[in-house]
Parts: sequence; structure tokens; C-alpha cells
Amino acid sequence: MWLNVTSMKMIILGAGNIGLVTALCFAEKGHEVYCVDNNQSKVNNLNLGVSSIYEPGLEPLLKKHLSEKRIHFTTELSEFIEQSDVVVVAVGTPNSPSGEIDLQHVNAAVSQIASLSTKPKTVILRSTVPPGTNQSLSLKFPKINFISSPEFLREGSAVHDGLHPERLIVGSNKTEHLKLFQEMYQNFEITPSQIIQMDPASAELSKYAANIFLATRISLINEFSRICEKTGANIQQIKKAIGMDSRIGSEFLNAGIGYGGSCFPKDIDALISFAASLSEKLNIVQATKETNKSQVCIFAEKIKVRFKDSASKNLALWGASFKPETDDLREAPSLKLISFLCSAGFNLNIYDPKATTALSELFKNNSQIKISTTAQLAVTKADALVIVTEWSEFGSFDMTQLKSSLKNSIVFDGRNQLDPQKMKQLGFEYYSVGRPS
Ligand code: UDX
Repeated sequence: MWLNVTSMKMIILGAGNIGLVTALCFAEKGHEVYCVDNNQSKVNNLNLGVSSIYEPGLEPLLKKHLSEKRIHFTTELSEFIEQSDVVVVAVGTPNSPSGEIDLQHVNAAVSQIASLSTKPKTVILRSTVPPGTNQSLSLKFPKINFISSPEFLREGSAVHDGLHPERLIVGSNKTEHLKLFQEMYQNFEITPSQIIQMDPASAELSKYAANIFLATRISLINEFSRICEKTGANIQQIKKAIGMDSRIGSEFLNAGIGYGGSCFPKDIDALISFAASLSEKLNIVQATKETNKSQVCIFAEKIKVRFKDSASKNLALWGASFKPETDDLREAPSLKLISFLCSAGFNLNIYDPKATTALSELFKNNSQIKISTTAQLAVTKADALVIVTEWSEFGSFDMTQLKSSLKNSIVFDGRNQLDPQKMKQLGFEYYSVGRPS
């Protein structure tokens, strides 16, 4: 079944969004994988085929490789460390309150590997860490060969991205490590030219560079959307015009209420803090953060102004996760918007296809907020609709049905998901981002 792939025994340390997907992708490509996590209940659930995260395509892979005994979940690293060919560290690297990155979990993982290994070990650092981490760990743990190899998985398409990486970074100066990666990824659809070797510090910094370039694109297009709103220009026409320039490209130019998630905000704060330790002030990165923060407020202000003298205070919100196809609410723009609207005295009826449980838990003590289990329930008798996350079901919702459900035919579209012309023809008062209403 596997095209002469050398099936390796791999340990993945950390069964979170990155570790679990990484483990399943290696299992899918013929390796034997031991996924180690210190959370016993998470490990128990995973061994029963139940994942704590929602990712399209993840559960079928989990069930398949559990039944084929190609993946094992455990809390005990000691059981498999000796027989493993390589260990991948994919533990979390949260920020401390002041913004700098916290490496305690990475350090603990590496110390555990070192103390349990009787012979030299190859360890791949997949977690996002600042430049110089590989070097300092190498000095501290001379028996371990470190390779810095950040991942670029997107939530909501992590399984796809894991099985079809656009590039693999081998952050090591040892040629045998390039060969190791070629073996590990032998059964993946990836060409040798997509596996790039470089020094560890460049590999570590590349992760921040990629994320912050992407976040900056978003803040930049959002700044242009503000000029559009004051000049009658249309941000989507601008996206088309600049996106056809091969140097710019058309991806990641969607104006809206801004970016969220567990990566962009965290990586921006971490890099600003790390650069400050080098007496470097990153003005553009700081501005990306500030623009993103204010983008939600500008959108929320539109809603507040529209209803300023009105008794209408009941809003339906569609979407809360930071992007479609995930249940993740971390740093979601919706949370800032919800807080702003509640402070302005609105009552909210929120629906999200995947984050219902998390939302119910989060807002269980907030009398201004109701969580609906369907899009229809959320809009029934609401004074207006606010689209916050562009789940596909909202784009295909029957607009005539929507019109008859709402008390007022007013829609605020924070993700430019709907078509202004169509909404106008249907008689809606329609507001979006950077497009003439
Ligand atoms: C990101 C990077 O894309 C990924 O490579 C890295 O490994 C982790 O961080 P992720 O945060 O999961 O992935 O989602 P992404 O698709 O990048 O979207 C991030 C945020 O940007 C979302 O809130 C999304 O709504 C927003 N976004 C994205 C925009 O506002 N406009 C766009 O054009 C694209």
C-alpha cells in the first residue's frame, strides 16, 4: 500500500491543533506515530476516536489510523522514546501577559526527551519559537540534534495543509537532516525543491515573517477600505486591480472586521517583544496590530450610529469563530464586537455553526446575550442582522426568508459576504466594509 516508504517510528509531543494534525498526517503517509500529551482526558478521548478540536477531515483520519493501529495516544513519553526514529515537539508557546513568548512547555518537553534518551536523539522543533531558541537548546542539550521546522497550517484547512505542505523548512546545518526530511515526507505529494534547508535562526524567524506579512496585508487592505468608505470607491475593485499584479497576488486581500485566531495576534506581540529585547522597534508590525484593533470599532460604530435614536436594540449575529470551518473563538473579532455592542445597550442573539457550546459557556451569565442553535432562530424578530464570520451557510441563506424574519430589513456585513446590488434590489438597507451601500 505504501510506495516503498520507509515507515518510521515518530513521536509527536503535544496533541493540540498542530501536534494532532501533524501526527495524523504522518500516520496517513505510512509512519507509525505515538502522540504524547500530558492531558489524560484528552488522550483518553483521542484513543476513543474523539478529538477535542474541530477540523474538517480530522475525525475520519483519527478513526482510520486508530483502527489500523498506526497511531497511539499516551501521556507516557518513556514508553516509546527509545524505539523512536525522530521526535517532533509541537507543544504550545503562549505569550506571557507582557507579550513575550513563553517557552516553558518547549523547555519541559526537551528536558524530558533528554532525560529519557540513552542515545543521541533527533528532535524537530515545530512549535513557533523566537530566533536563537534552537541554538540555546543545542548548547543546553548537546546529546540532542535539533531541527527547526515551523509549520504553516491554517485552522479550518489544517488537514489539507498538513497533507499538502507548500514548503518544508529544514532549519539545520547538517546535510543528513535534509535526507531525514526527504525520508519522512517520501510519501507526501511534495517535490524535492519544496524542501528547503537553511540555518535554524532563519527557519525560526521565517514563521513570524510569514504570519506577519499575512496579517499586515489584511490591515493594509482594511486601511484602504476606510478610504473607500469616504470616497465611494469599492475595495473589491481595488482587490481585483492590485491582485492581478503577480508581485501582489489576490490572496489575503479581503477587507472585513479584521483578523483573529491563536496565531496572528500572538505572533505579532511575541515578535514586537522579541525585537524590543534587541532594541529594535517594529513600526509597521505595531501599526498592523493597531489597525486591526480599530477595524472592529469602526464597524461597530456603524451599527451604533444607525440605531442611536432608536429603541431597536435586538441584533442577530451570524458567526463568532475567528474564521469559517473552525470552532475556535481565540482572539476572534466577534468577541470585541460583542463586548462593544453590549456596552452600547444592544441585546444579541448569536448563532455560530460550530462554536455554540463555547459561546453558551462564555456568555452563560450575560443577560443581554442569547445563543441560538440555527441561523433562522437568531434572525427571527431581530431588529437587524450582523454577519461576523463568513460561514458558507450564510451566503446560501434565502434572502427573502431573511427579509420576512427580520423586523427591519437591515444587514451589517462584516465580511463582505453578500452582494450589495442584490441586497439593494431585495430592499435591504445593507452595510458592508469598503463598498458603497
Ligand atoms: C494563520 C496562517 O495562515 C497559517 O499559515 C499559520 O500557520 C497560522 O496562522 P489561521 O490563523 O488559522 O492561519 O487562519 P487564516 O486563514 O490565516 O486567517 C487568519 C485571520 O485573518 C482570520 O480571522 C481571517 O478571517 C482573517 N482574514 C484572512 C482576513 O480578514 N482577510 C483575509 O483576506 C484573510
